[in-house]
Amino acid sequence: MVCRYYLHTSTAMQTQILGNATSISKQEQVLIIKTADAEARISLYSPGIVRVSVTKKTTADHSFAVIRQPANNLEYTENENEIIVATEVLKLKVIKSPLRFSFYTADGEVLSEDDERFGVTWQGDRVINYRKLYTDEKFIGLGEKTGDLNRRGCNYVNWNTDAPHHTPQTDPLYETFPFFIGLHSGLTYGLFFDNTHKSYFDFGASTDETMSWFGADGGDMNYYFFGAQGVAKIITDYTWLTGRMEMPPLWSLGYQQCRWSYMSAKEVLKIAKKFRKKKIPADVMYCDIDYMDDYKIFTWNKKTFADPKGMIDELKEMDFHLVTIVDPGIKVEPGYPQYDEGIANDYFATYPNGERYVGSVWPGRCHFPDFFRDDVREWWGASFTALTAPGVEGFWNDMNEPAAWGQNIPWLVKFGDRYMPEVRNVYGMEMARATYEGTRKILDNKRPFVLTRAAYSGTQRYSAVWTGDNSANDAHMLLGQRMVNSLGITGMSMVGVDIGGFSGDPTPELMVRWNSLGVYIPMFRNHAAIDTKMREPWVWSKENEAIIRKDIGQRYKLLPYIYSGYYQSCMSGIPLSRTLAIDYTQDKNVFDVKYQNQFMFGDAILVAPVESTQVIATVYLPEGDWYRLSTGKYYTGGNTIEVSAPLTDLPVFIKAGAIIPMQNVVQSTNEKGDGVLILDTWNGKEANSFVYYEDDGATYDYQNGTYYRRKLSFDPDNKRISIEETEGLFTSKYNKIKLVLHGFEKKLKTVVVNNTKVELSWDKKSQTSYCTFNNIDEAIQIKY
Ligand code: GLC
Repeated sequence: MVCRYYLHTSTAMQTQILGNATSISKQEQVLIIKTADAEARISLYSPGIVRVSVTKKTTADHSFAVIRQPANNLEYTENENEIIVATEVLKLKVIKSPLRFSFYTADGEVLSEDDERFGVTWQGDRVINYRKLYTDEKFIGLGEKTGDLNRRGCNYVNWNTDAPHHTPQTDPLYETFPFFIGLHSGLTYGLFFDNTHKSYFDFGASTDETMSWFGADGGDMNYYFFGAQGVAKIITDYTWLTGRMEMPPLWSLGYQQCRWSYMSAKEVLKIAKKFRKKKIPADVMYCDIDYMDDYKIFTWNKKTFADPKGMIDELKEMDFHLVTIVDPGIKVEPGYPQYDEGIANDYFATYPNGERYVGSVWPGRCHFPDFFRDDVREWWGASFTALTAPGVEGFWNDMNEPAAWGQNIPWLVKFGDRYMPEVRNVYGMEMARATYEGTRKILDNKRPFVLTRAAYSGTQRYSAVWTGDNSANDAHMLLGQRMVNSLGITGMSMVGVDIGGFSGDPTPELMVRWNSLGVYIPMFRNHAAIDTKMREPWVWSKENEAIIRKDIGQRYKLLPYIYSGYYQSCMSGIPLSRTLAIDYTQDKNVFDVKYQNQFMFGDAILVAPVESTQVIATVYLPEGDWYRLSTGKYYTGGNTIEVSAPLTDLPVFIKAGAIIPMQNVVQSTNEKGDGVLILDTWNGKEANSFVYYEDDGATYDYQNGTYYRRKLSFDPDNKRISIEETEGLFTSKYNKIKLVLHGFEKKLKTVVVNNTKVELSWDKKSQTSYCTFNNIDEAIQIKY
């Protein structure tokens, strides 16, 4: 955000601008264009994805993010002045003198061009790409960044940083996602700068609005250009390139209660019991750093957590899962197994002279594992038996920017052959990878839940993320939502924020409001710092407790829809929480700062976050028709509306034509429930469909066909609601379907379910008609 870096332009620093092409050749699937000082390597990954890598090195490159190989059909044409690489999706035009790269749609509309004067430049080791900026160009993306949805006119730095007490302006924060989407002239493109060095993005902030530029302190000008039309299609392509999440364990989608720290097993159990006694649904308890012996990773405090298995067994009996924190710093203490093993096998980062680097974190003086090595990742992963043996199934990776007090781990610190400046931004992801791969192996076929604070593009393959140490105020609540939505653009669907705010004490109103927003945050976790007041749902007042209970209950009712939403993330990379810029890209109101925090939760639910001090909200409803969830009131989209927004009723709207699968309230995801799948169908003018998905919620069997999937569709022209035939080998846990009709004619008394007339009942309170019938695997057709 804030301009706080400078490009040194001293005469001593050599400045080079990419010059003329001197030779062109194709080697295997790579088009190589040499200049006097550098070479550009162009490869095609798919018809919509072209990689351009401009380098001065001859060595092979490596990516932590990309999991795909180039396609084998790169073709080009050439004339005296230019080279053209064209696919059915896009066209890359390479001007030869001087070497410049411009991208177009397949039919020739400009998507993005190098600045003719500067293109790719080097200043010392720094490499920068200057690009043209279009009058109406907007930018979205970069993951966990403060600021507005539209990043035009702003600049950012990527340098993973432990940022306690950050403000809604602070930059950089904990994570690096050097991927953005550009929007102009009704067109879309994406650009992923795959460079792990400290990097910079300037979207016209410091260039008199004439250019945008991005660059890094080292490495190559190595980027992937996405030419597909449509933000969703670009996200799908980006996550095809960098990978997608796996189905999360179902329990991790329930309500999560965390605190730094519940100080003993007794306290953990007391809190868990209280949830059950008070009938507030919940699934997860956390142990923050105080469960350890002297903050030594993979140990338990022998006094306060004397019998971890006993505690976890008791938690399991109450249908709770436990997540424990791990930090990367290994305490320097001979006799502590992780230290001894790390020393014996040389697993830790060093200075160039081979001396081990020491930095101080919670345990005091620590060494830091070199997660870039296969054997270190394996060793780290295997160490989790200390946690999995008593029954832990969730692993919270913290302080992995990596953090050391004082923040500045010297650039001299080495991880194998790589120095700190090259790997800092990707250290956290490699730790999360080691944790994921190790625990996945140990837990056999069970899905581990991994949560990490630091991340780089591709982290979605291993872990969920949260947005670090936020604060207990409204601005942070709104910022958190923008960050969740922005992380969704960069492939991270499973994202959380510390609900209530990590630092400081929320007012009861803020806590209630943030909790009701949390229902629609992909990872629903309440967390607070050590010096704050207790935060559990019952500490606020009887009335507030009732609101919180009802809202958490709503989360559990929505789980069939949420789980299906995660399935969509796994299959296509489309996130659960979506900025409106994904579905309504060309609607400029969506970028208005007044409405920029609004988002779609899955395909059909629009949520408008409202500050805790407001009881009336101005909401922008994009095109289409909408219903307010709480009242069933109908609204025509493309309009701004003023609605009541008391603490009991966050403005949430359903898109007309939606079918939302829900269930009745359960106290945890492990509870069997009443076996009724509720299909809330909201009448509309347009046809619509939704893919319902279910599996065992716990294992990887779904990857071998043990899932339950069926398409739900609404067809107003033919007055038909269809539940298509079941696909997959899993048996649904719902043996009944309750069809609830919202906004249909009141005098509708019957429907025909597979040729049989079924009477509808009328629910006066919700003004809906409904009927219940058996869930069968064959297609079910409902005519109304
Ligand atoms: C860091 C984490 C926070 C955690 C604390 C103690 O500040 O961001 O979530 O509670 O460390 O482990």
